[in-house]
Amino acid sequence: MRIDILSLFPETFASPLNQSIIKRAREQGLVDIVIHDIRDYTHDKHHTADDYPYGGGPGMVLKPEPVFEATEVIEKQLGVSELPIILLTPQGRLFSQSVAQELALRPHLMLICGHYEGLDERICEHLATDQISIGDYVLSGGELAALVVVDAVARLIPGVLGSEDSANSDSHSDGLLEYPQYTRPEIYRGWSVPSVLVSGNHGHIAEWRRRQAILRTAKRRPDLLEKGKICEEERKWMLENLSSPK
Ligand code: ADE
Repeated sequence: MRIDILSLFPETFASPLNQSIIKRAREQGLVDIVIHDIRDYTHDKHHTADDYPYGGGPGMVLKPEPVFEATEVIEKQLGVSELPIILLTPQGRLFSQSVAQELALRPHLMLICGHYEGLDERICEHLATDQISIGDYVLSGGELAALVVVDAVARLIPGVLGSEDSANSDSHSDGLLEYPQYTRPEIYRGWSVPSVLVSGNHGHIAEWRRRQAILRTAKRRPDLLEKGKICEEERKWMLENLSSPK
């Protein structure tokens, strides 16, 4: 997969994209991530990328020319057209695991990070093919949102996660939060690991994990449970066990 990111602050990406799973995926050639500085596509000597809003008002607005030209140059260089051009904006559709799964199927994505107080509406209307928000809050720019999208999408690319840390057991992958995990020591400060996990009975462990995932989702994110596929018997068990705290 190839991901091109357009930003006014390209330095933001260096550290997060050079750590851990994403770093390994890039080194293995599973994902090619290229950062472009929008200012490189300006034509004046001051590299002006923003301007005053028509009609007045506070703040500056990202100009359309460098953003349109950057996408056109990149598309031409790559010999592609009609690639998904995703604008990161608090006004976009809400990002979720299912949106990440949808994007992970694409061979190529272009992400545009908005900045300042806004961007020229013609970028939204005539360039972006999709607009994504990572939550109902306003960030200073789209850079952190783009990093969230890249991370969530990249870990779904086949081969990026080893089989030992498969994306299938992640929270949200089956519409439920992930079950609790423990590691050694078996007893820490008097708190024991649930005995089923040291029983060696894989059937019981799988059932315990499934039920804990259901219970945790019901307590913390009941809104998700409508989507999660739980059977009648599991629902009954859940209602009986919901009264305990945590
Ligand atoms: N840019 C600023 N806030 C944002 C958000 N919540 N999601 C995506 N891009 C943004």
